[in-house]
Amino acid sequence: MDKQSVIKSFETHVSAGKAAFFKKYGMDFVMGRRDGAWIYDMDGSKRLFNCHSNGGVFNLGHRNQEIIDTLKSALDELDIGNHHFMSQERTALAEQITDTMPGDLNICIFGVGGGEAVDLALKLACGHTGRSKIISATGGFHGHTGLALTVGDAQYREPFGINTSNMIQVPFNDAGALAQALDPEVAALILETVPSTLGMVMPVEGYLQKVRELCDNNGTLLIMDEVQSGLGRTGKLWAFEHAGITPDMVILGKGLSGGIYPIAATVIREPLDAIFKRDPFIHISTYGGSELGCRVAKKVLQISSEADFLVRIQEAGRKVRAGLDSIQKKYPKFFTGIRQTGLMIGLELRDEYGGPALTKAAYDQDLLMIYANNDTSVSQFLPPLTITDEEINLVMEKLDRAMNAARKLRTALIAKEKSSGILKRLSGNDA
Ligand SMILES: Cc1ncc(COP(=O)(O)O)c(C=O)c1O
Repeated sequence: MDKQSVIKSFETHVSAGKAAFFKKYGMDFVMGRRDGAWIYDMDGSKRLFNCHSNGGVFNLGHRNQEIIDTLKSALDELDIGNHHFMSQERTALAEQITDTMPGDLNICIFGVGGGEAVDLALKLACGHTGRSKIISATGGFHGHTGLALTVGDAQYREPFGINTSNMIQVPFNDAGALAQALDPEVAALILETVPSTLGMVMPVEGYLQKVRELCDNNGTLLIMDEVQSGLGRTGKLWAFEHAGITPDMVILGKGLSGGIYPIAATVIREPLDAIFKRDPFIHISTYGGSELGCRVAKKVLQISSEADFLVRIQEAGRKVRAGLDSIQKKYPKFFTGIRQTGLMIGLELRDEYGGPALTKAAYDQDLLMIYANNDTSVSQFLPPLTITDEEINLVMEKLDRAMNAARKLRTALIAKEKSSGILKRLSGNDA
């Protein structure tokens, strides 16, 4: 099929809204070849350097050869496996993951995607504590699943005490607001270690330690969502390590897949598994922890936890920072600040039109950059963790030009936004 036929069929059979949107903004890119940090339009007319990495899915680049080889050799002997039986592959991966975790985070329950892993953590928290409230951060993002349980039989829901009216949000970095919201009914607090969809908001000094203390004092479980911040993105394997805290549960997804085979995990400590000791089949995921995915995730974790790999991320982070600092000096009114830990970076822009303007201007310069959907004044900057020095230089040259163009585009976007109101929907919810 040629590109125009794909677009037409996509419009009919997949999403008319997306097709119309990308057409309107001159971004009618259809993914074809992909290689390392680059993705190519299917007709070969354009390529984009991936500065978003799907929120960490492509931490190791697109089609990483080691990951492909791992999956190919796994295919010679395995398939998805059986979710009821015990499994060598799930055991080996669980051992490897829990070896990297602090404290007694000793148990892994596998799923297919991040939302599913979050769902499990939340229902487990309610089931374990016998409480029904959950606190999260305003503007945080943990996925779009969760309704399945509410339309299922009570026997799978009631042991976990699920009550959807009990979800409370407090501002990130505000320990006072959290202290006020905590009461004896709060089962868990869930936080992204660095909230991505809110624009890479960095936890302020002492915040996460205070959060840990407040949760402990209230008997509330602390769930850290490391779906984007984990696997080396911040220069440590897990971002919560920077704060020296031990969560009660950790959520892993995206990058664990190596961009090749979907897999996610909810890592928990004893005795949070007590409910499964009583009824081991009360929670199942048919494809969760597929044995093929386990092999892939093992390889990902092996690469991501190597000391040299993590040191290189810190080095690359410093080099990127030097480049960003000099671009910022050129356009200080538009490019107003930098949020950064390792290669988890948010570019603060003049106002809420800045992010959409930069996404489009960057696209025109062959950079894939996505703004933060819950604060569109910030552009996310998440290049593959394998980015080389030469690639950093190239990206900075392109970003400089994009930043210059985005300043002007912003004015045009303001006018367009006034007439259509559609801009805020460019990035999807993981942006
Ligand atoms: C921090 C975070 N948690 C959870 C999720 C949900 O993951 P999934 O889309 O695999 O369900 C996302 C997705 O973007 C995310 O960014």
